Amino acid sequence: MKTIELDKKFDFLFEKEHPWIYRNKFNQFEKELKNGDIVKIISSDSKKSYTGIYAEKGLVAIRIFLFSKTDSIKSNLIDKVHLRRKLFSETNSLRLIHGENDLFPGITVDIHDKHLVIMNYHSSLEKISRWISKFIYSFLKKNFQINLESISIHSPNRIGFESIKKNNRVLKGSITGLIQIQFKKIKYQIDLESQKSGIYNDIRNLRRYIFENKKVFQNKKVLNLFSSNGFLSKILRLQDVSKLVSVEDSNNMIFIHEKNENINHILLYEHKLNSTDKNILIKEDILKNKETLFSKLENFDTIIIDPPNLTNNEKDISKAKNIYKSLIILSLQKLNKNGNLILASCSNRIHPNEFYRICKETVSENFEFDTWKKLDLEPDHPINPFFPEGNYFKVNLFLGVKKS
Ligand SMILES: C[S@@+](CC[C@H](N)C(=O)[O-])C[C@H]1O[C@@H](n2cnc3c(N)ncnc32)[C@H](O)[C@@H]1O
Repeated sequence: MKTIELDKKFDFLFEKEHPWIYRNKFNQFEKELKNGDIVKIISSDSKKSYTGIYAEKGLVAIRIFLFSKTDSIKSNLIDKVHLRRKLFSETNSLRLIHGENDLFPGITVDIHDKHLVIMNYHSSLEKISRWISKFIYSFLKKNFQINLESISIHSPNRIGFESIKKNNRVLKGSITGLIQIQFKKIKYQIDLESQKSGIYNDIRNLRRYIFENKKVFQNKKVLNLFSSNGFLSKILRLQDVSKLVSVEDSNNMIFIHEKNENINHILLYEHKLNSTDKNILIKEDILKNKETLFSKLENFDTIIIDPPNLTNNEKDISKAKNIYKSLIILSLQKLNKNGNLILASCSNRIHPNEFYRICKETVSENFEFDTWKKLDLEPDHPINPFFPEGNYFKVNLFLGVKKS
């Protein structure tokens, strides 16, 4: 471990417990450091210290894993896994470590049945990722009686989630084919090597809402936009909806949906408005062809919109807001009276309050609604108050929507 004692002019680095030190604040200390070095940084009065990992490239120079002298990474890891204990009674697919939000910056750890998937977002985190995997392996075995069959490490680049296959290393066992997970007795097969290690679990809150509110969906027509691997659609189908139309563009996700639900996707031009099919999966680029898509769809009682992250950088923010607005406006035109609009967003640069404002204002332009609900975050997707960037996921429900 390398130690750096800072002088007074760097005291500002200790003001907030943000888990990153940006490179432009750290340039002068980099000469002696190598990618992946563990660095302890001590304040001018020696009262505060950080321990982090140095990255030789990228905007972030140090990812901080420890803020006080008394904490240990091991005890943090144990605490974070314990916090998820209750979830294990409901599902075998969850996030054990949620990156910066759990003070493991740049690292997520997911468990799906007996398979552990670690994602690290920088090469400097290789060593600690391996250590975490070994520790969790023993910890789960001893405390949760879970015998992991495989451990793999993915190093996705932030944007290219579709291309993680080539960056995947298996540390233990092997992964062949699809893995079966379960949520409240509902079983589903996922591909660990696809987006988000196979499944978006931040949206478990909506899965739970649908599961627990059958009356809202029973005998209703539902449109599920950006349906991903189709698990949400399966849960909707199990609530006895009268018609379900799912739309997704990723071939890989469509393949998983088809396998699980025994349906074949169609292309938009093959979709017949008056088709009597109850469960339809359309492959379409929604963002590119939203007007055409909506012009070919019938009316629905509930429309769910959950696009991918639309704000990869600051410049995307206003464009992203306009995309949400236009998806809402198009949806309102296809919503039956007293219908429901469910709006989810994982765009990290749009704050939950701002997202709610955009949704409410757009809906309220020509419509009113009976109830608004915001779903709570899942226990395995906590927020770190010192890391506002991590407060990314939101689900807003506008129920009983009608023309004003
Ligand atoms: C946030 S995820 C949706 C998660 C989903 N609601 C669930 O329950 O798992 C966004 C999805 O949108 C898909 N997607 C991205 N761009 C798209 C586009 N232009 N058209 C259609 N689907 C798209 C991605 O493949 C991904 O599956």
